[in-house]
Amino acid sequence: MIFDYKLPPRDKLRAAISVAHHTNETDCLATLLDAATVSEEVQRRITDRALTLVGEVRNKPTRGSVEDFMLEYGLSTHEGAALMCLAESLLRIPDTKTEEDLIEDKMTSVDWSTHLGQSASFFVNASTWAFMLTGKLLGAKESTSHDLGTVLTRLVARSSEPLIREAMVQSMRIIGQQFIFAETIAKGLKLAADYEKRGYRFSFDMLGEAALTKADAERYYRLYMDAINTLGQRYSERNPIESPEISLKLSALDPRYEYAQYGYVMDTVLPRLRALALQAKHANINLTMDAEEVDRQELQLDLLEALATDPALSGWHGLGIAVQTYQKRAYEMIDWLAQLARKTERRLLIRLVKGAYWDAEIKRAQVGGHEQYPVFTRKESTDVAFMACAKKVLANKDAFYPMFATHNAYAVATVLELAGDYRDFEFQRLHGMGETLYSQIIDPDKLALPCRIYAPCGGHKELLPYLVRRLLENGANTSFVNRIADPSIPVERIIADPIAKVRQHGGTPHPRIPVPGNLYGDKRRNSLGLDLHDEFKLKALAEEMEVFAHQSWRAAPIINGITVEGDAVPAFDPSDRRRQIGVIIDASQAHLEAALTYATSAADRWRKTSVEERAACLDRIADLLENNMPELMTMCIREAGKTLNNAVAEVREAVDFCRYYADRARSCLLEPHPLPGNNELIHYRGHGVFACISPWNFPLAIFSGQVVAALAAGNAVIAKPAEQSPMIAYKAIELFHQAG
Ligand code: FAD
Ligand code: 2OP
Repeated sequence: MIFDYKLPPRDKLRAAISVAHHTNETDCLATLLDAATVSEEVQRRITDRALTLVGEVRNKPTRGSVEDFMLEYGLSTHEGAALMCLAESLLRIPDTKTEEDLIEDKMTSVDWSTHLGQSASFFVNASTWAFMLTGKLLGAKESTSHDLGTVLTRLVARSSEPLIREAMVQSMRIIGQQFIFAETIAKGLKLAADYEKRGYRFSFDMLGEAALTKADAERYYRLYMDAINTLGQRYSERNPIESPEISLKLSALDPRYEYAQYGYVMDTVLPRLRALALQAKHANINLTMDAEEVDRQELQLDLLEALATDPALSGWHGLGIAVQTYQKRAYEMIDWLAQLARKTERRLLIRLVKGAYWDAEIKRAQVGGHEQYPVFTRKESTDVAFMACAKKVLANKDAFYPMFATHNAYAVATVLELAGDYRDFEFQRLHGMGETLYSQIIDPDKLALPCRIYAPCGGHKELLPYLVRRLLENGANTSFVNRIADPSIPVERIIADPIAKVRQHGGTPHPRIPVPGNLYGDKRRNSLGLDLHDEFKLKALAEEMEVFAHQSWRAAPIINGITVEGDAVPAFDPSDRRRQIGVIIDASQAHLEAALTYATSAADRWRKTSVEERAACLDRIADLLENNMPELMTMCIREAGKTLNNAVAEVREAVDFCRYYADRARSCLLEPHPLPGNNELIHYRGHGVFACISPWNFPLAIFSGQVVAALAAGNAVIAKPAEQSPMIAYKAIELFHQAG
């Protein structure tokens, strides 16, 4: 087999999750709108309650400096984006020179002066002065001006570089500090005591995710194990719901926690996760798995199922999972989770969130050329999904202990109205956020409802991905925390009913977020990718590729469209030299001369072919490459030793080259170029015969890229593939000829 893929057994509810994942946004929302809709009376009460909550937040701003800061330097400003880049990378740059280059690049490329005096906060204005000064100093360093001011500034800049660097690093630490609760679990527990007296509960997150090495994973695992033990020593007598909880990111446990390593994950990650869960059971506390990238979702559900059905963990009601309502499949996931809870006779803890990886999910789907986005593209659609999911979670009282994690007052008001008199649930907030909102919820004289603080413990280095998600959340101008801090936005707009908004546009996708295939607009189609985390697509692909897995290919020189004969030598799979995959006939001196003669005459004909015809030909090649993806991928694996992922990327790059050069040719047709030294305007015109020599490591992509670039411009080509990968090249040329 080219790759061994067995779809794990899926029951009806589990399969429904997959169907929802592939349903288009509008159809998904049709179901969700119906599910989320409440009576006019309830709707009015939600609005009234939201108004009260928001009013209090606006009246009693305990807004920290970072909230003001994010308001001033929102991500829609160039300056905000520059600071975001610094925050994301500065603290993990290992050397001074790169640190300085990055600071210089980011600080001098934007105009800080527009922010001066704009904020009510002293901290923000002081920061603006500092940024302006830094930018000016660094800018002067590059300047060659001799005026006295610049010369003096340049002098200061030279002597103050280490100071600027240190100041910037410190600034980024200060921003980060807002979101770290404590360095260690022991310190965290000490700090937690005060909050607990006020009615808060805790969920400790040991910072660390997406481990890159085994050593990192081992370290994170130890931190989690120690944290569970520490909590156990202190809280094992308490009701686990009231005890502090552990929030766990599974990506911290192994660098290969990914769908492509399914078997490995079940053999290696599951036992580690099981050990943590057993320890949590023993310690009588909760363990909730955070929701991470959607690519990991199916794996996570399988791991959860393995834990839930493990006899050693039966009777433990502390197993939890976060569900992201920006995913189109969240609503269906809840049905499956309820079934799992009932089957294993436990209540699962369900943390309902909107999802913290939205920007990354959109980008990943675009880069991967996926058919659709896995998440909604409009904010209000995620809000409606949150309402529908909240209703469903609350309706399954026997199956779930609900935990609503949001900083949005409208979402809080909705949950309160949906819950009615029911009280067996909690809210959750992140440390450093939502404090004023939740002081009203936990207040014994008001609602006296429990709220849990998600408390990250660890150092700055581990904080960075988490910090970036928080900066995105605080800095995005659609986000509740950003809008509530902006006094220019009227309260009524902040708490506008998302159901009404979705009804207005009918659940259609965001008009400025085209599906990945249409990313380049009218210019060209994006190459179609294959989502290798999609179980059903993977199964279909395995079957299609299996057809070619045992094929014997043949490569030989092609001259004038005719394959020449000669002595054939066997070719072998580089990953297993015992496996013969075909035969190769090499070109001789005589073949080369014949090719030259033919190409010279062909060049003349091809040069006179219209640009539009040449471009159309390239587009046809692209389509043929896409249609032959399973065979080309199999060849990339068998002949060039590529992985499945690499093989998809290889074919897609070849397709993109064809469409890109077709577009370039057409745009040159529209804008004729002057001939050097001559005023005559010419259209794209060939120069003769090009020799294209390509490398083995991109046997299809670079091979095709060079050839089609030359062809698009009206040249003839003699293509020499790498001697390690001529069969892929042969197949490509067959398709080129088929395309005309
Ligand atoms: P809102 O401002 O109402 O919502 C913002 C959210 O809307 C964005 O985060 C995004 O999800 C969504 N959104 C924004 N723009 C668009 C758009 N154009 N189209 C569609 N949707 C859009 N997140 C996780 O992913 N996994 C976790 O395990 C997790 N754990 C959490 C635990 C706690 C205690 C808390 C408080 C949050 C947790 N989060 C987690 C983060 C959470 O997802 C974000 O805080 C949340 O999305 C912000 O939602 P909100 O209701 O507070 O704010
Ligand atoms: C995050 O790490 C809180 O899990 C959420 O962004």
